[in-house]
Amino acid sequence: MMKIKKITCIGAGYVGGPTMAVIALKCPEINITVVDIDISKIKAWNGPIENLPVYEPGLSEIIQATRNKNLFFSNDIKKFIDESDMIFMAVNTPTKETGDGAGMASDLKYVIESSKMIAKYSKSDKIIIEKSTLPIRTAEKIKEILSKNSKKIKFEILSNPEFLAEGTAIQDLFKSDRVLIGSDQTESGIKAADKLSEIYEKWIPKEKILRSNIWSSELAKLASNAMLAQRISSINSLSALCDKTGADIDEVSEAIGMDHRIGGHFLKVSPGFGGSCFKKDILNLVYLCQFYGLDDVAEYWHAVVKINDYQQKRITEIIENYFIRYSLEKKISILGWAFKKNTNDSRESASIYITYQLLKLGFKVNIYDPMVSREKILDDINVLDQKKGELNENYHSKIKVYETLKSIVSASKIITILTEWDEFQSIEKISSDYEIFDFRNILNKKSVKLRL
Ligand code: NAD
Ligand code: UGA
Repeated sequence: MMKIKKITCIGAGYVGGPTMAVIALKCPEINITVVDIDISKIKAWNGPIENLPVYEPGLSEIIQATRNKNLFFSNDIKKFIDESDMIFMAVNTPTKETGDGAGMASDLKYVIESSKMIAKYSKSDKIIIEKSTLPIRTAEKIKEILSKNSKKIKFEILSNPEFLAEGTAIQDLFKSDRVLIGSDQTESGIKAADKLSEIYEKWIPKEKILRSNIWSSELAKLASNAMLAQRISSINSLSALCDKTGADIDEVSEAIGMDHRIGGHFLKVSPGFGGSCFKKDILNLVYLCQFYGLDDVAEYWHAVVKINDYQQKRITEIIENYFIRYSLEKKISILGWAFKKNTNDSRESASIYITYQLLKLGFKVNIYDPMVSREKILDDINVLDQKKGELNENYHSKIKVYETLKSIVSASKIITILTEWDEFQSIEKISSDYEIFDFRNILNKKSVKLRL
């Protein structure tokens, strides 16, 4: 089989951008082009280094070192599909909004569209890699599209799910716990997996490169996210019991996590997990279980999402009750819009849902996030309201977005921390003219009015 000289990645988002940047850095002999249908995104990837479309610590340095050397960004999808030996598909796979499985199943339209383009534009044999998170047996569907639309070209399909977390993407890619490669267990399938493995072996120890069949690889990705989210929902559910009993959730988490069989990660209480993936991936898992008639299993996993919604409502109620008890003017400041620190991504952030519920209750809301723009914050609320339609028409006048921590703090009487950005630690010291609700439990207990 040919040596891999040219890679194309379809999808220049949070996964496509950083993963290809790291491969380009580690494999200078390979030319990599990341393509996207989104013209403005590609323009931004090719634009000023301080305004890349994805913010990740360490990313801009790698882009600077590789861009226009062996890493390129382009909208010319046809050309780069045709030229490549290996194609990664890193397109989005959101929850379906209409049709069978709406609200639960993954919408595979972007994957199907990409597969059709590959079938149409390819003139030579290629290895196709599922990088997106997909339902089990998607590879079968891709294979069907490729074989129907193209003539005599051999495509080998691999599953190589991505496990990076936002905010630590570069670190995660440099030192992955494991790289998973699923392939057909045929001679050509195993050879294709060897080719992909060779790329990762440039920096990942061989014993961390795990091989499996395609279906195990597809399911392992969904299951990993479900297990991580399940730990957060477990802790968040217990935080409600702590509230009733006087136990302290941080102390409980610490005690649980010190059992080496359980481990300490992903046991931090929060206003609920956000991010583009946990909810959609669990709902997809629930849908798959239902599809195969496993209703009890589906119900088990669905509870993880339900507890997450419950935690967001619970926090809104805690805030509302405080204002009622002390007859306060309904005005509150929210610190943090990103779904976690060190990212500019706000998809599914608890801040969106909690702010929405507060606006519904008639609150005026001040908002500040160090990385999420004013336009994005307002757009997130608008998009949710287009779905729910529960806000009255003049809600825009009740929202004010601030550009600095200092300015929001000096305009606040009650401050609520919803994202754990490091800079928020300093608000304990800025002044004592306000009260703090810390729903990430990041500040000293003594300096906050409410916490989880
Ligand atoms: P994203 O929305 O940031 O990026 C996807 C990109 O694909 C978009 O820029 C979109 O324009 C592009 N695209 C869609 N259809 C296209 C087409 N036909 N041709 C060219 N470009 C097309 O999404 P993401 O966060 O990078 O996630 C991508 C996949 O990776 C998802 O399946 C997700 O579940 C999975 N994943 C995401 C993360 C994460 O941290 N965000 C981590 C692991 C896995
Ligand atoms: C998650 C997984 O961690 C990645 O392995 C996976 O690749 C990725 O989803 C994906 O498939 O998209 P990500 O969502 O970027 O990564 O970030 P996490 O660090 O997992 O955080 C998710 C959410 O859970 C955040 O809102 C975070 O604040 C919250 N969280 C995390 C908690 O509430 N408590 C914790 O202890 C940990």
